[in-house]
Order: sequence, then structure tokens, then C-alpha cells
Amino acid sequence: MTRWDLGHYTPRKDSAIAPEVWEKLLRLEGRYPWRRGMLVPALMEVAQHHKWVSRRQMEELAEFCEVSPTEVMGVATFYTMIYTQPVGDYNIQVCRTLSCALCGAERLIEHLKEKLGIGEFETTPDGRFTLTPVECLAACCGAPVVQINQDYYENVTPEKLDEILASLPEKRTLNPKGEAR
Ligand code: FES
Repeated sequence: MTRWDLGHYTPRKDSAIAPEVWEKLLRLEGRYPWRRGMLVPALMEVAQHHKWVSRRQMEELAEFCEVSPTEVMGVATFYTMIYTQPVGDYNIQVCRTLSCALCGAERLIEHLKEKLGIGEFETTPDGRFTLTPVECLAACCGAPVVQINQDYYENVTPEKLDEILASLPEKRTLNPKGEAR
């Protein structure tokens, strides 16, 4: 492994990663002693802007970070906050690990399946909601816990979930980082 020269990387002309994301990635160069150290922040930048990371984008990040595409895929699939397939405007992540399971997580999942007419890891036809069961969200004292995009909801019941979904704006307005304003 060798240290790398600052800012020598030139993105492909037909890059699947948005120019504004590349601007940020190239600015990050130099903050890490090794190119591979850029991998997680680079994945996060792409995921925040594009909402998910495609195979093609992973290949480009592999080239950028000087690692194999398999390694990029391994890291991307390890973190549940990085999506490797398209998700709806609102990704409803229901924790189903022990504390939440004991406090009604399955009831929430079944409620969402019926209400939205989709199965686990599926997206509603209008692209608004994705249902994603996940492992511990590290907020066990508030079980059952649901995370919708970046927001946490604790002590959730089916009724509370209905209220939360009804309160979500029709269409998200995104800031330049791809986050809801
Ligand atoms: S078990 Fe659900 S947040 Fe930890």
C-alpha cells in the first residue's frame, strides 16, 4: 500500500455519479492517508445524493478508492443506511431485533404490509414508500423503533404509524445533499 498523490483522480466523462458529488469527493482527497480510507465517506456522499448506490457507481468508487468492486459491494451491503437498490421517497425501516420484536415489531410490519399493499423490501407503485425490516437501530429503550429516512420514532404503535405516515409531505424537497428539508 502506498500513500497517494493529492487530487490526481479524474472522474470518467460519462460518470454515473453527479458532478456535484464528485466535487465533494475530490475535496475529501487529502484528508485520508490512504485512498481506501475514502470508501465509506464516498459511499455515503453518493448514497445521500442519489438515494442509492448502483453497481456502476460502485465500480467508479472502486477505481477512485483503489479497491476492488467486490470490496465496495461488501462495505455498501454491510451498512443498512446505504441502499444498493432503488428505494421510495420514504424508506420505512422497522427494527425487528429482540427488544423491538418483544414490543410488537412484527405487528408493525404486518400493519404496513396491509396498509401499503407491499411486501418486505418492496416499494409502493407510486414510489412513495419502501418497507425495510432492519436489525437493531440502537434505540432499544424506545422499542419498538421505526426509522423513516433519517428520522427515528420510538414506542411506535400501528395507530401512531398511521399518524406519522399521514404527516409526511407529499413530495420531499431535497437539499443539495439529498436530505429532506
Ligand atoms: S432492538 Fe430495536 S432498536 Fe435495538
